[in-house]
Amino acid sequence: MFFRRAQSCVTYTKRYISFRKMHVAVIGAGVIGLSTALCIHEQYHRSVSPLKIEIYADKFTPLTTSDGAAGLWQPYLYDEGNTQETKWNKETFDYLLQYVNSEAAQDMGIFLQSGYNILKDPAPEPSWKDVVLGFRHLTPEELKLFPGYSYGWFNTALMIEGKSYLPWLTKSLLKRGVTFIQRKIENFGELAAQGADVIINCTGVRSGELQPDPELKPGRGQILKVHAPWVKHFILTHDLKTGVYTTPYIIPGSQSVTLGGIYQLGNWNEESTSVDNGWIWEQCCELLPSLKNAKIIHDWTGLRPVRSKVRLERERFVSGTLKSELIHNYGHGGFGLTIHWGCAMEAAKIFGQIVEEKKLRTPKSSL
Ligand code: FAD
Ligand code: BEZ
Repeated sequence: MFFRRAQSCVTYTKRYISFRKMHVAVIGAGVIGLSTALCIHEQYHRSVSPLKIEIYADKFTPLTTSDGAAGLWQPYLYDEGNTQETKWNKETFDYLLQYVNSEAAQDMGIFLQSGYNILKDPAPEPSWKDVVLGFRHLTPEELKLFPGYSYGWFNTALMIEGKSYLPWLTKSLLKRGVTFIQRKIENFGELAAQGADVIINCTGVRSGELQPDPELKPGRGQILKVHAPWVKHFILTHDLKTGVYTTPYIIPGSQSVTLGGIYQLGNWNEESTSVDNGWIWEQCCELLPSLKNAKIIHDWTGLRPVRSKVRLERERFVSGTLKSELIHNYGHGGFGLTIHWGCAMEAAKIFGQIVEEKKLRTPKSSL
């Protein structure tokens, strides 16, 4: 056996297979960064050893977009041929469903939630109709509950509340020895210079600051949290005719009910406005008049990382003498919680390809 020291990495040769320290730097501690780190650690901590994972972010839970999201598992109505995202959504649903009846469910912030999607005109069935539980069309009796709406579906889905799920992911990662560093990353070179073999870019809507991406835009959202424990079902409205994305919704969570529906493409304003608060309140009270008796707890504004499709791909990073592998995982729009685990598994698959190429796998005999 011979040992060779190279910078901070040690390369061993054992039975003709080499292995050395693998340093992974994840940028971003929203649902995407945390779940990607967890998935990679789960899958590779035995075969790539030692596997050092660091998570860099300037904001951690409870201050990320993922914490503020309503937390309903629901993709956009139609995948428009992007079947890969439909697959990742389904993988996430199936993964979370395994936990929903476990003891961990409360800590994770996941529970079953049923409700209505309603429209003013007939529409094709959504791409996710076979993923959720008990998808069915509304009866005429049910439609009478929603004046002005003449079409819709009912189903059971899941809630994944970021305010519980992100702390749960963080705890799981800490237990595994993953480290967290609060720092704004100015460029990928910083991490390559620190010896990162693989950099995973999970920076959400601000990814363009690290590498320009004309496709990535903010989809500004604003919500109200209200105390209305009598509301038991979600109600999401859609307007396919005008193509306006700002339509009201009501989503009961574990502690409060989220009222929302603001979607402003290209608007970077992270402050709540009284105009938007007024619109949400009016529209949601019209949809469900009992909300007029609800107490408003607070408002929140967040920016969805909107793209025509999620960017989940590998790129080689070279800058002068610095070299590293990049995996991008961002652009999850208004469905980051809905799709996160499928994307994490795909990122882990790409990571596995890098491991194979670098022949970093430990020999079976030493496992
Ligand atoms: P984020 O949660 O924004 O995390 C990005 C991370 O990157 C942060 O830690 C940040 O600090 C870090 N970062 C960025 N740049 C840098 C840098 N240069 N250096 C260091 N750190 C950096 N989705 C659903 O599935 N269901 C819902 O019900 C739902 N409701 C929503 C409601 C609203 C009002 C909004 C706005 C969004 C909603 N979403 C929902 C969408 C969901 O919130 C996003 O898709 C998801 O949060 C994106 O996760 P992310 O990890 O990519 O980004
Ligand atoms: C959103 O506001 O982006 C959203 C609301 C409900 C479900 C999914 C997304």
